[in-house]
Amino acid sequence: MKTVQTIDDLRTQVRSARVAGKNIGCVPTMGALHDGHISLVEAARKETDFVVVTIFVNPTQFAPHEDLSKYPRPLEDDLRRCENAGVDLVFNPDADTVYPADDAAFVEVPRCSTTLEGAHRPSHFRGVTTIVLKLFNMVLPDIAFFGQKDYQQQLLIRHMVDDLNVPLEIRTCPTVRESDGLAMSSRNTYLSDPDRQSALALSQSLKIAHDACTADGKSPADARQAMLDHLAQFPDVKLDYAVIADANTLSEVADAVPQMVALIAGKVGSTRLIDNMLITI
Ligand code: PAJ
Repeated sequence: MKTVQTIDDLRTQVRSARVAGKNIGCVPTMGALHDGHISLVEAARKETDFVVVTIFVNPTQFAPHEDLSKYPRPLEDDLRRCENAGVDLVFNPDADTVYPADDAAFVEVPRCSTTLEGAHRPSHFRGVTTIVLKLFNMVLPDIAFFGQKDYQQQLLIRHMVDDLNVPLEIRTCPTVRESDGLAMSSRNTYLSDPDRQSALALSQSLKIAHDACTADGKSPADARQAMLDHLAQFPDVKLDYAVIADANTLSEVADAVPQMVALIAGKVGSTRLIDNMLITI
């Protein structure tokens, strides 16, 4: 495994892999890697011959009051995990390489970027789509791998790729969870023991919504109420939203459609967590 910091070195490595007839997979991350990230690497290894992991804590997707400065950056551990997972190349640029001082262009994807996470983090998705397109243009992968964990993010990235004719394919991989259901997240390391217990309410309420719509045949409106009733037992969870939406448009639904997604976000202590679950009927 090689690690590079500059765009020139990245391009040299990727070009020689391509000349050797390899197709290129890319897994964009902000580091603090856990088994969720590694599952994306495994998916990339199955489908592509040369796997590039990018590790970059992207400042433009954090609002000024958010956790950019305290975001975990355990680079040595991350590199060890990448090596063990069979990654071919890690691209770990610094902020000046990615954002030269005079850079001003950005990417905005209007479709479903202002609801849910977009409503609670107004500048977030502009930062995400901008960095992801920049990384795509730096790495030039054939296939890029994202997690369902960030449902709205992967949907917006798919829209960006479609709308701007970006020549690559997107794969979305299932959310990896701890054995008690908590979705793995780099931010879980912020949770105290009691907060971690309260955080279980998120995945529990998604499962309640899922089972209400599927096994019990309830309407999304009733299933949502069942989620809220469960969450009401956890006063430590400060809810931003808990909704059941059309999985393609993210519009909230009161009556069932074939592909739905239950989405939830809230703060536990000072840690903001998100999670979701697909509901297919
Ligand atoms: P980060 O939070 O590091 O996540 C990197 C990728 O890992 C994303 O596609 C995310 O959805 C996926 N992921 C995170 N937790 C997961 C889990 N428990 N199971 C499966 N996949 C999981 O998302 C970002 O970084 C950034 O916004 C980025 C796309 C890199 C742009 O800066």
